[in-house]
Formats: sequence, structure tokens, C-alpha cells
Amino acid sequence: MSRFSGKTVVITGGNRGIGYAMAERFASEDANVVIASIEEHVYEAADALVATGAKAKGFVCDVTNISQVKELYEFAAKEFGSVNISVQNAGIITIAKVEDLTEKEWDATMNVNTKGVFLCCQEAIRHMRGNGGKLINMASGQARDGFIYTPHYAASKFGVMGLTQSLAKEVALDGITVNAICPGIIKTDMWDYNDRVWGKMLGDFGPGELMESWVQNIPMKRAGEGRDVAGLVSFLASNDADYITGQTINVDGGLIMS
Ligand SMILES: NC(=O)c1ccc[n+]([C@@H]2O[C@H](COP(=O)([O-])OP(=O)(O)OC[C@H]3O[C@@H](n4cnc5c(N)ncnc54)[C@H](O)[C@@H]3O)[C@@H](O)[C@H]2O)c1
Repeated sequence: MSRFSGKTVVITGGNRGIGYAMAERFASEDANVVIASIEEHVYEAADALVATGAKAKGFVCDVTNISQVKELYEFAAKEFGSVNISVQNAGIITIAKVEDLTEKEWDATMNVNTKGVFLCCQEAIRHMRGNGGKLINMASGQARDGFIYTPHYAASKFGVMGLTQSLAKEVALDGITVNAICPGIIKTDMWDYNDRVWGKMLGDFGPGELMESWVQNIPMKRAGEGRDVAGLVSFLASNDADYITGQTINVDGGLIMS
């Protein structure tokens, strides 16, 4: 019997990057996995998990759209009988000097990274009340320390920490835990974008050079992989973390120690 046998996990942004690494981890521990994403590629990603023997389904969902979010959790409950774990991972970033940052970028970033997390928590809680459950929200090192040229992203991730604490207090007596995590520098498509755009803005770094230089500030001297984040998420989703709630935990090789 594996840790997540009979448990159903919903992972937003689960078709690639950190989200897919989490999906692989939960699948390897026998969970029923529903990966949701705004991208059609979500079906291929689910099929790739099924090909390894996992129980996985894809679902196209924009986390900023309340009706689609409701449909996502209804789908998960109908397919697998319950929703026990929900990981609010979908996120976006843009990088721009303050005078160039558009209202559209601000709104999109807050909508996906903060409102999207809230809507998914709200719907997951409707399905978990009475049975308990685990919610894990994706924040960032930028919820600890806002980096340059990303005030909208930093605000959206600080927001995730606040809503995590508030919800954790509200649902504690329902046996539902709510925690947030702060990855540092993790190798994904998002970091390729960061490397390219911040790299140009901060000193004309070539491809990969900004990451290499920032990695020197990490005590462990390496960037993270999706599986490093998946290890923390699977712990927070397990019974070993039953007495942990309202916390925000860094997973960054020691980059930020607060
Ligand atoms: N990569 C890093 O270094 C890093 C560090 C800290 C935090 N994070 C956070 O981790 C999460 C995953 O990041 P990643 O690096 O894997 O990024 P990524 O760009 O590789 O993947 C982002 C995922 O979010 C999905 N998504 C975007 N908008 C969506 C929407 N409106 N509805 C549904 N899905 C949507 C995408 O389809 C994709 O699956 C994000 O919240 C990101 O902010 C990443």
C-alpha cells in the first residue's frame, strides 16, 4: 500500500514544469491524478502518466474562470469518487521596468497567481469539508523577497501567503490543512524566460548565464529540479504533515533563509 493509494489529487498547471514533476511523484505513489491546465497539451501529459501505469486524467481549465474551476473539481470527484489533495500550482510571470509594466500584465498576474489559487482552494474545500484534505499553494521566493522588475509577480505571491494563512484558520477544524511553498530557482520553461529577459535587463547575460550567476548565491550551488519541489509537496500532502498548517516553506537550496 502506497502513501496515496485511493487518494485523488488535483494539480493545476500540471502538464509541464514543476506541476508535471508533482504529477509524476503522486502517480508513482499510487494517487489518482487529475492534471489541469489552460493548455490542450494537458491530455498528452495525462496520457504519458497513464502509459507508466498511473491513474491520471487531463482537464482543460483556466484557473481564473470560476465556472471552469467548478467543473474541474466536479470532474475529479466524478472520475475518482473524491478530492483529497489539491495543489494550486498554475502561475505566470512577466518582467518589465516599472514604467513599462502594463495594467494588463498586473491584472493577468494577480488573476492567475492569486485569484486562481483562491478559486481552486474555495472549490476544493467544498469537496473536502466533512472528509478532510490537504491544500498546497504555490508561492515563490518572491513571497519572501520581491525581486527587481517583477512587482506584480511579487505582490501576487505575497498574496498567496496571506490567503493560505487565512484559509488555514478557517478550515482547521474540518481536518483540512492549507500550506504554501516557496521554490527558489527551478529549471523550467518559466526560468528560461526569466533567464532570457532578466538576463538582458540586468547586464546583457547570454543564455543560461544569469541562472549560473544567481546559482552562486545558493549555498547548495545548484538550481532546483521539479522533483525537489515535488518531494516537499508530497510530504505536505501526506499524513506525516497532519499537524502542519498555515505555513509557508522554502524549497530553494538555502537561497533565502527566512
Ligand atoms: N520555476 C521557478 O523557478 C519557480 C520559482 C518559484 C515559483 N514558481 C511557481 O511555480 C509554478 C509553476 O511554475 P513552472 O516554473 O513550472 O512554470 P511553467 O511556465 O513551466 O508552467 C506553468 C503552468 O501553469 C499553467 N497555467 C498558466 N496560466 C494558467 C491558467 N490561467 N489556468 C490554468 N493553468 C495555467 C501553464 O499551462 C503551465 O502548465 C508557478 O506558480 C510559478 O510561479 C516557479
